[in-house]
Amino acid sequence: MDLDAWERDAIAALPAMVADYYAGGARSEGTLRANRSGWSRHALVHRILAGVREVRTAASFAGVRVAAPIVAAPTAFHRLAHPDGEVATARGVAAAGSAMVLSTLSTAAVEEVAAAAPGRVAFQLYVYRDRGATRALVERVRAAGCRALVLTADAAILGTRFRDVRNGFHLPPGLSLPNAAPEGRTMDGDGSGSVLARYVADQLDPSLGWGDLEAFLADAGLPVWIKGVVHPEDAARAAAMGVAGIVVSNHGGRQLDAGIATADALPRVVDAVAGRCPVWVDGGVRRGTDVCVALALGADGVLLGRPVLWGLALEGADGVRQVLELLRAELVEALTLIGVSDHRTLDRGCLG
Ligand code: FNR
Ligand code: LAC
Repeated sequence: MDLDAWERDAIAALPAMVADYYAGGARSEGTLRANRSGWSRHALVHRILAGVREVRTAASFAGVRVAAPIVAAPTAFHRLAHPDGEVATARGVAAAGSAMVLSTLSTAAVEEVAAAAPGRVAFQLYVYRDRGATRALVERVRAAGCRALVLTADAAILGTRFRDVRNGFHLPPGLSLPNAAPEGRTMDGDGSGSVLARYVADQLDPSLGWGDLEAFLADAGLPVWIKGVVHPEDAARAAAMGVAGIVVSNHGGRQLDAGIATADALPRVVDAVAGRCPVWVDGGVRRGTDVCVALALGADGVLLGRPVLWGLALEGADGVRQVLELLRAELVEALTLIGVSDHRTLDRGCLG
């Protein structure tokens, strides 16, 4: 089994509206496809007689010791996949010795999720037009013991996802958003287009700017990461301002269509950051060899979006654990065959 098999099985098992929301991308889904092919355009060049006895994959993400440089990306609405939602995800993440970034748009409260994976949860922040509500949310996140705030900066509005428009994407009765403003709100269907797209347009602040990042850095009381970076000048500016980390991401191809693959954006961002903070990357990472390419291009690690949802949908917390451990096992195999005993020694010299 590889992650493609988990994807096939989960898509077959989930209701079409949910499978489409999880799997889909913006408009022509060009960025979605580019992410996948971006990794496979690179070739790995192995070394011989390297004397590898044991491979080390331990890493650190947002101050959390993790078993591998692979953590769960923030994704919304886990109760669409499993009744225990993000709490089950957190348990699976903890069982795999990994970490997760919890979405603002989660269907379980941040306090409950943080308690299910103590010390292993960072919080992804969407900034509301209502800054009082945003401040109150950050206060809850800090009190819950989250390790960092990950500010998502590539979603001024929601990219148009034709699948969701067609399906009238909404949350079924009984599901609510306990972290989101207004607190505990629901997202009922009304049969016309994506209710999520309207929620984002109504509630989130599209005018977010560098001054806002500065304010979060000064006031959040937590290390602040920035997610959604693809331009090297943005990366350099954020690093100079003192962000705790950067996530190179195009939101899994769900925002700007015809966007740059993250594998192509990554090396330029790494060069621009020049070691001032960690650089992680997500988008279309599905194989241990993809992880190797990302690390060789200079990433400190990868985040995994959809595959975590496939694990959750099929087998709950244990499915999340299996997905994360499967990718780690693939990484160990690939590193052994490349001839490196520590993932941190991969560099561009390992690429053809
Ligand atoms: C996302 N992503 C996302 N990002 C974010 O910052 N906040 C969010 O609430 C969500 N929600 C969300 C829902 C779903 C269903 C998906 C698939 C993605 C983007 C996510 O963090 C990540 O950038 C991508 O998922 C990475 O790409 P892969 O691994 O899914 O290809
Ligand atoms: C998404 C939002 C919620 O990609 O981030 O669906």
